[in-house]
Amino acid sequence: MHPYPQDQWYVVAWSRDVGRGLSARTVCGEPVVLFRATDGRVVALGDRCAHRRYPLSLGSLVGDVVQCGYHGLTYDCSGTCVSVPGQSRVPSAARVRSYPVLESSGWVWLFVGDPENADARDVPDTHWLDDPGWAAIGDVARIACRYSLLVDNLLDLSHETYLHAGYIGTPEVASTPITTEVDEPGGVVRVSRRMRGAQIPEFYARSTGLSTPIDRWQDIEYRPLGFYRLDSRVAPAGQEPLPGGSDDGAAHMKILYAITPETEGSTLDFWAVARDFALGDEEVTGFLDAMQRTIVQQDVDALEVLELVVAAEERGPGVRELSVRIDSGALAARRMIEKQRAGS
Ligand SMILES: [Fe+2]
Repeated sequence: MHPYPQDQWYVVAWSRDVGRGLSARTVCGEPVVLFRATDGRVVALGDRCAHRRYPLSLGSLVGDVVQCGYHGLTYDCSGTCVSVPGQSRVPSAARVRSYPVLESSGWVWLFVGDPENADARDVPDTHWLDDPGWAAIGDVARIACRYSLLVDNLLDLSHETYLHAGYIGTPEVASTPITTEVDEPGGVVRVSRRMRGAQIPEFYARSTGLSTPIDRWQDIEYRPLGFYRLDSRVAPAGQEPLPGGSDDGAAHMKILYAITPETEGSTLDFWAVARDFALGDEEVTGFLDAMQRTIVQQDVDALEVLELVVAAEERGPGVRELSVRIDSGALAARRMIEKQRAGS
């Protein structure tokens, strides 16, 4: 079984981070070099020269060809070698992999499996990242942990109460039961938590101006392996959305995570927070950006500790983990990912 589901789109970069330089990425164990061609499109090639395996990302981009920094072989945007110094004939085996890539609302997605199976319609909707009705911030963190620890973390938000106390967590997050829904054919896990008359955490108090008590909804939609969306709604306690769908007076956020396995011990955590209130307010933007960076770092620190513990236990006699009610979403996600791995 492959360590990662193959026929999937994974986020490999923020669009703003891909330019006319060569940047190296590792996606599902595969070395990839990214660059922007002269016509503006993003190109992703295997990052090992066919000749002596030197990383192409250490070479240079000349027009639309990549020149290896070791012996000067050059490759076009399809990964075909177009020149070999010292000879006129180019061996037909001289090529590197070329990956399907597409850009959508600020993220660059790469299809790691069989290119025949790459369907642009499978790229999740992230329009909140560049929709004028929303204000978005985001970045990427590298976590020295296996992807499954990040999936567990995001599917069980009860940890907000403890790991993120004083930031995004209040006692009600852990004490309010969740509902879990698994749409197996659709490849979606939904976890929902509706808190009534709850305390407002700092994250929402300072950004929305609301105060305790609030109704706070967390509706997670996770599409294994690589895409997670949290629909967050915060409103004065007792205020329900109107039957027509209008929900003025409530604050909504889309908290997005793209999970991209690098290796068996490292994962890229692309995060974004989009809000539908205080759109032009730079102070709110700055506050949320600083707050979310702290929250992400708290997760990074915890998951890196956990990775060391889990890896050490794998080498020894091992200690079995225990699952409880709050794990239903994470367990459903694990089962789905196992099936995806088996199918690829
Ligand atoms: Fe967290």
